[in-house]
Amino acid sequence: MTIKEIHLITFSPTHTSRQIGEAIARGVESVPVKIWDITLPDATAPDTMPTNALVIITLPVYGGHIAPIAVERLKDLKGNGTPAAVAVVYGNRAYEKALTELDAWISGAGFKVVAGGTFIGEHSYSSEQHPIAAGRPNEEDLAYAEEFGRKIRTKIEVAADIDHLYSVNTARILRPRQPFLPLLKFLRRVIKLRKSGTPLPRTPLVDEQLCTHCGLCVRNCPTEAIVKGDECNTLVERCIRCCACVKGCPAKARTYDTPFAVLLADNFKRQKENRIIL
Ligand SMILES: Cc1cc2nc3c(=O)[nH]c(=O)nc-3n(C[C@H](O)[C@H](O)[C@H](O)COP(=O)(O)O)c2cc1C
Ligand code: SF4
Ligand code: SF4
Repeated sequence: MTIKEIHLITFSPTHTSRQIGEAIARGVESVPVKIWDITLPDATAPDTMPTNALVIITLPVYGGHIAPIAVERLKDLKGNGTPAAVAVVYGNRAYEKALTELDAWISGAGFKVVAGGTFIGEHSYSSEQHPIAAGRPNEEDLAYAEEFGRKIRTKIEVAADIDHLYSVNTARILRPRQPFLPLLKFLRRVIKLRKSGTPLPRTPLVDEQLCTHCGLCVRNCPTEAIVKGDECNTLVERCIRCCACVKGCPAKARTYDTPFAVLLADNFKRQKENRIIL
């Protein structure tokens, strides 16, 4: 069978999910791609997708789940038996239930999930002092995502029609290798941190001496948590701690110093593998 349109749907405050999605779409290659990037609050969200389209969805993992705000923004997304390739991007710790949740939701919305993937992206909390999967996706990751796209294209091409294009059980995807000792150390330190009652920062902090009031963080924030003219503050009730403002600040005025970053950097040094299932 042939597909007539490709729609890439992504939510990606620090751009890793979008990079993976674009690489997958490059691999599929056959027809032009319409990108629905729903990161910013004023973005147009997609609704009903036609049967002859391929929908690629790439979302980041937050706390072992797909980012809740993305699910909210995609509440009107519906398929009409439309083939979908779904992928989650996570910061080298774990994606837990995120992929199966995404599959269940998208299947329930009328799509046929024909491919799934789990990819590594630099952790939102990664910094020069505490690097966590820094620089990922790298060239190799993007080549792997493109190859995934080519495999999706082949799967679609060899199917006689939509009834012969089979869905995939994403729960059967191979989990990445996780050495036991660092995981145990991480869990112990998390418990210790929680018991200590150390308050966790609820928003990034701003160095007023460094801020040039360029306004970039106001434009990059997915939740309007930073107000124009008041860039040195953050509305705590709106902030989702996505770190778009931190990574996008040209003056390095914004930082998010959570003690979790140290634990993640110390215990998840070994880089995990991307995985796919078709
Ligand atoms: C609030 C929050 C929670 C996160 N939870 C996890 C997690 O449970 N496991 C993990 O490996 N990475 C986690 N991450 C890291 C992101 O999944 C990762 O950095 C991803 O590449 C970000 O996607 P983006 O670049 O598209 O924004 C979390 C990041 C944030 C901001
Ligand atoms: S992006 Fe950085 S320098 Fe620009 S206004 Fe925001 S905090 Fe200030
Ligand atoms: S203020 Fe909060 S929600 Fe807005 S970009 Fe920064 S970390 Fe993300």
